This record gives sequence, C-alpha cells and structure tokens, in this order.
Amino acid sequence: GPPLRALAEKRNFQIGAAVEPSLLLQEPEYARILAQEFNLVVAENVMKWGALQTSRGQYNFALADLLMDFAQKNRMAVRGHTLVWHQQLPRWMYGSFSPAEMEAILREHIQTVVGRYRGRIAYWDVVNEAVGDDAKLRPTPFEVLPDYLEKAFRLAREADPQAKLFYNDYGAEGLGPKSDAIYALLKGLKERGVPLDGVGFQVHVDLGFSPGAVRMAENLERFARLGLEIHITEMDVRLSGPGSRAERLEKQAQVYREVMRVCLGQPRCKAFTLWGFTDAHSWRSASEPLIFDADYKPKPAYLALQQALQRP
Ligand code: G3I
Repeated sequence: GPPLRALAEKRNFQIGAAVEPSLLLQEPEYARILAQEFNLVVAENVMKWGALQTSRGQYNFALADLLMDFAQKNRMAVRGHTLVWHQQLPRWMYGSFSPAEMEAILREHIQTVVGRYRGRIAYWDVVNEAVGDDAKLRPTPFEVLPDYLEKAFRLAREADPQAKLFYNDYGAEGLGPKSDAIYALLKGLKERGVPLDGVGFQVHVDLGFSPGAVRMAENLERFARLGLEIHITEMDVRLSGPGSRAERLEKQAQVYREVMRVCLGQPRCKAFTLWGFTDAHSWRSASEPLIFDADYKPKPAYLALQQALQRP
C-alpha cells in the first residue's frame, strides 16, 4: 500500500517520528524509511536543554542542525522538543539561582534556541511534563522563578511568532485526575492570555490501553473546546504481556489503530507522532513498541495505521 506519509498528506494530516540524527548518517535504511513514511520529525534528545547547552552560554547545535537540514531537504515539518522540562538538564542548571538569574537563563536559552530556528520549526513543546502523576506541579530548578511556565510561553512567542506553542505530557490521554490538572492549568493559561496553541498527548502505553475505556475522545474534546490544537506526540505500545507473539502483535496493532481513529475523529487533532519508528532504536527497544521491527520490516501495527489513514 501507499506510504503513511502519502496517505496523511491526502488528508492534510501529519504523521511523525522521533529521530536520533546520528542514525541518519550511520544507517541509510533509517533515513530512507523516515523520509518515505513520515512528513514530520521531532528530535528524540538533541534539542533538549542538556544536549544543547552543556555549559552555561555554550551551545552545541551540530546534531539539531543536522535534523533541521534533513527535514528541510525532505519537506518535513519539525516539532521542537523541548524547552522547559525537569529532566535532561545540564548539571550547571542545578546551581542556586535568584529568580532574576533564572529568568535571564530562561530568556537567553529560549531566545538563542527558538531564535536560531525561527520560521523553521512549526511546533514547539515549550513545556514538557510539568504536572506530576500526583496532579501537582513537579519540583524543577525552574520553579525558583514564579510563573516560569507562563514566561516560557511568552518568551517562545517573542522568539518565533509563527511557531505553534505546545504543552506536552504523558498519562493524560484519558479522563482522570492528571488530565483534570492539566486541563485546569491550560485553561488558566488561556484565560490569562498566555500564548499557548496546543496540547500534546504522548501515549506511551502497553497492550492494556484502550482509548474507549479511558474516554480518550471525550478528553480530547474538552481540550479542543479550549481552542487548542491537539497532537499525539510520542506514541509507542509495549509488546510485553501474556499471549502468543502473533496475538500480541495483533493487539499492538489494534491499540495503534484505535488511537489513530480517535485522533482522526477529532477535527482539532492534526498530527500523530511515534516515539521512533523501528524497534532497532527505541528508548524501550526490549519491548518492541514501534511499527517497524528491528530489521525495518513493517509490523501489523504499520498496516493498522495505513488502514486507519485510508478510511474516509
Ligand atoms: O548521550 C549520552 C551518551 O553520550 C552516553 O554514552 C549514554 C550512556 O548512557 O547516554 C546518552 O544519553 C542518553 C540519552 O537518552 C541519549 O541516548 C541518556 O542516558 C538517556 O537517559 C536518554 O534517555 C532519553 C529520555 O527521554 C531521558 O529522560 C530517551 O532516549 C528518550 O526517548 C526519552 O524521551 C522522553 C521524552 O523526551 C519526554 N517524554 C517521555 C520520553 C520517554 O522517556
């Protein structure tokens, strides 16, 4: 059948994958499939703070630039990931800073990074995983600055007025306390006029995940009613669990299919991104969570997405 990318483009939709740019140089098959099947890329790691600004004021853009060039050459959109996250921060960020110093650090980083790619990154994950699994804001070095969340969005808007600015999180796909907390947070930001354009649902799940059971469609709908664009941002489905391998591969395909259908059924859901695409390279390689196997052969999950994208 036709590549996922061709099917997505027919319906004005984006299908994406997280990328480690070093692999673009090392594995021709990796680069080939990526460009053939996807029209959106996101950096799995190389645009994180800890990768870009390892020491204060010193930036390493080589791998991020490599990804940007690849995307441009292959006419792919880019999601920037991520500006404010409590993980993968460089060691120097754990120093003790005054609120004014932290504000200067935040401003400098956002102006430098977002400014560098101004006009070339369609979507930025400005804030990632700020809400904890207890539904409260997580501890983070940024919190010395009151309103760091709001400030990050305002700085990003200034640095690139064209980029759509996202809040991104996991475990909030369905209705529940964490999703309620994120909903309340984003509603408050919108009410205060903070430049927030979209919300990303990561969807790192296992074979037990059922969008129907957690009322994912209803959940997306309430965020859509805030006027937000919706993306599925990091989907993968762990294959581990009971049953034969063939049964589990089918079940995995079904989970992908159902989530894609929920997204396609929501008019504001415009992009569906996987956290990688081949089981050869995944943060959870051992549980084979992606749609191509480790030899780059399409799995049942690939066919499921292809079928879902083909339906009117
Ligand atoms: O780059 C170093 C390398 O120099 C070193 O030799 C090697 C030894 O361990 O580590 C490398 O860094 C690793 C990095 O991935 C790049 O491969 C880190 O140890 C490892 O912790 C890091 O993991 C990433 C993780 O975020 C960090 O929390 C995963 O690849 C990445 O898939 C994952 O992505 C996150 C999203 O950003 C946010 N949502 C959840 C998602 C999954 O955890």
